[in-house]
Amino acid sequence: MKNYTIQVNGKSHEVNVPEDMPLLWVLRDIIGLKGTKYGCGQSLCGACTVHLNDEAVRSCTLPISSVGEKEVTTIEGLSENGDHPLQEAWTAYIVPQCGYCQTGQIMNAAALLKKNPDPKEEEIEQGMAGNLCRCGTYNRIKSAILSVSKSS
Ligand code: FES
Ligand code: FES
Repeated sequence: MKNYTIQVNGKSHEVNVPEDMPLLWVLRDIIGLKGTKYGCGQSLCGACTVHLNDEAVRSCTLPISSVGEKEVTTIEGLSENGDHPLQEAWTAYIVPQCGYCQTGQIMNAAALLKKNPDPKEEEIEQGMAGNLCRCGTYNRIKSAILSVSKSS
């Protein structure tokens, strides 16, 4: 066990956990932020996507020891009142079905738009390809992202 101080959603958290504990479990089980989901545990599905600084990362395989001073943002910290433009578009386009993958989808989309505020359809498809949805909401995800892209 080791002490770590990590920055999550603008707040500092001190945690005492094993060095190899994935960030996902620190967020969910130690800090109590349950919005980030566990899917595969192997960086294959994207359900656990959070931001490390502005990069989308898979928290299920990212050990706490490699977070350092970088700012972690989870779905709870994406916007103050759940009103990030993507969250509003997700509601407008009725994107979720079961909802399980959607935290990861939104976090990945937010990182994508930060890098490229005006993505073409193929760029969205490419950028979102690693985030799986067993309910097949891909078309609505794409429409929602397009609706908030700069040229929409
Ligand atoms: S749970 Fe992390 S990528 Fe699937
Ligand atoms: S909405 Fe069910 S897995 Fe994506």
